[in-house]
Amino acid sequence: MCGIVGYIGPRDATPIILNGLKRLEYRGYDSAGIAVFNGGQLEVRKDAGKLSQLIDLVNKSPINGAPGIGHTRWATHGAPSQRNAHPHVSRNGRVVVVQNGIVENFLELKEELMAEGVEFQSDTDTETIVHLVEHYLATGLDLVEAARRTFNQIQGANVVVLMSADEPDKIVTARIGNAGGVVIGLGEDENFLASDTPAIMDHTRNVIFLESRQMATVTRSDVCIQTLDGNKIKPQTHSVSWDPVAAEKGEYRHFMQKEIHEQVRAVTDTLAGRVDFGRGEIRLPDLKLTKELANKIEKIYITACGTAAYAGMVGKYLIEKIARVPTEVVIASEFRYSDPVVDDKTVVLAISQSGETADTLAAMEEGRRKGAVVWSIVNAIGSQAMRTADGFISMQTGPEIGVASTKAFVAPLVDQYMLAILLADLRGVIDEKTRKALVADLRLIPDLVGRTLDREAEVEKVAYALKDVRDCLYLGRGINMPIAYEGALKLKEISYIHAEGYPAGEMKHGPIALIDKAMPVVCLAPKDPWHEKMISQIQQAKARGGTVIAIATDGDELIDGMADHILWVPETPWMLLPVVTVLPLQMLAYHIAAIRGLDIDQPRNLAKSVTVE
Ligand code: M6R
Repeated sequence: MCGIVGYIGPRDATPIILNGLKRLEYRGYDSAGIAVFNGGQLEVRKDAGKLSQLIDLVNKSPINGAPGIGHTRWATHGAPSQRNAHPHVSRNGRVVVVQNGIVENFLELKEELMAEGVEFQSDTDTETIVHLVEHYLATGLDLVEAARRTFNQIQGANVVVLMSADEPDKIVTARIGNAGGVVIGLGEDENFLASDTPAIMDHTRNVIFLESRQMATVTRSDVCIQTLDGNKIKPQTHSVSWDPVAAEKGEYRHFMQKEIHEQVRAVTDTLAGRVDFGRGEIRLPDLKLTKELANKIEKIYITACGTAAYAGMVGKYLIEKIARVPTEVVIASEFRYSDPVVDDKTVVLAISQSGETADTLAAMEEGRRKGAVVWSIVNAIGSQAMRTADGFISMQTGPEIGVASTKAFVAPLVDQYMLAILLADLRGVIDEKTRKALVADLRLIPDLVGRTLDREAEVEKVAYALKDVRDCLYLGRGINMPIAYEGALKLKEISYIHAEGYPAGEMKHGPIALIDKAMPVVCLAPKDPWHEKMISQIQQAKARGGTVIAIATDGDELIDGMADHILWVPETPWMLLPVVTVLPLQMLAYHIAAIRGLDIDQPRNLAKSVTVE
């Protein structure tokens, strides 16, 4: 997970930045770098590897002075290497940039810049930003305006931080799209900024959180905030608690809400190091998937519990659709008792946030005993499910604290999409053009997630309408059917409202009898191959007096006017829709529970890690 720290003030920036980056180290990264103004000169130190290597580099060749910015990178564009590490410097050496996120339109921007004669020094998308800023500065604009123009050209969900040697009295930062956060720490004659609150908590508790599509100009004595359209905003200062747990929550009321909003970053980070957008390739080195193994596999069992199992159900669609490998999902607590047909041509793929769920570990063990290749998709680094698998994919989303799983649900959706592409490629099931198109769609995901999360206020309104219901039915079809299960699980576990997820086509075989005025029906009806079927489902529910809450794609006129409430999601490539459609359901469950005043992060009777059978 990329981290950013910046400092402006009378002290040396280097130790402040390195200590701040250290606080973010546990989130994972593959390279690190720092840029500091050293007596009017911009100096950069960066390298692949751990922060300790950067610290050695700085010890050998110190850089004193301020302001400064630092970054820990998780590669998305170009391998982890010295040249791809941030900060990136403009051609004239006067501007530096660090970025978290993916510049979706970087190929177009890069082509335009190259046509102007810009030679790129790295393989990164980030480098386009610094060249664009330099381009605008050359037209006579100041840094803030050059940065603002640049930010408006970038598509994606990104956090960007910039400095210029010609205006060393400021750091400029922006939150473009609903990217992971930017927190600005306010000091006495000094200011700080970071991607995460813990990075600056040694220095100040008074902070400003940037909203989506806002930028800030940070000087020693002032913070000036404006929207990316150029409208000035009066900043709202928050006082962050000294309690380290509360400090970690930052601007959010609960960890669950924080983790919901961290999903832009979660999907970006799980791509990190795995996707080469330039070549349109997927690499999952920890999975140890060779061409020989890919061609040997005859069947995949996905096994997991709860939310992780629902993620696996989406994975089944993806693996069968893209790689054409027969795939079955078996709830882990059933796997070892169902005498599954497993041999050495079978893969048992376990999904687990904690990597310590007893039933999931037992299912992995059963797979191994029967001779299968055992894989896992795990969030907790070093957990048993990671250690004991023949190959694994790390979700790379950082710790999940809220008992209700959110970011550890969307990350494995993306991981399984990548796995399906890799499998398909190695088995020769897809051609290069298809592979590149599937990989290119991944670029869109962080921004689509961010834009959906931006609609939280509308979801909250619907939560008020549903806060007193006793039961709720969730319906979905095809790839969105597991999202109906997951939406219902989220609601029941944190709000204690009885909720059922159902395959929509099954409604007429029983559950339709339940529908009346008191039974809201949440219908997942985005523009996917099952869209028309879901429309008829909505009509059937309405005909029986049900209150329908539809999850629909922006601009869907068929649904507009048909449902009682609509939670809109942006148009999304259909195989990646579950990453987006689950978000309003997470927010809905969260807000209903918040309105009911419940203990959201630690719901009754539940544990984060279920280590007993
Ligand atoms: O740690 P795991 O992913 O293996 O946990 C599996 C389930 O216990 C977990 O997903 C549970 O259903 C969550 N409370 C869902 O929010």
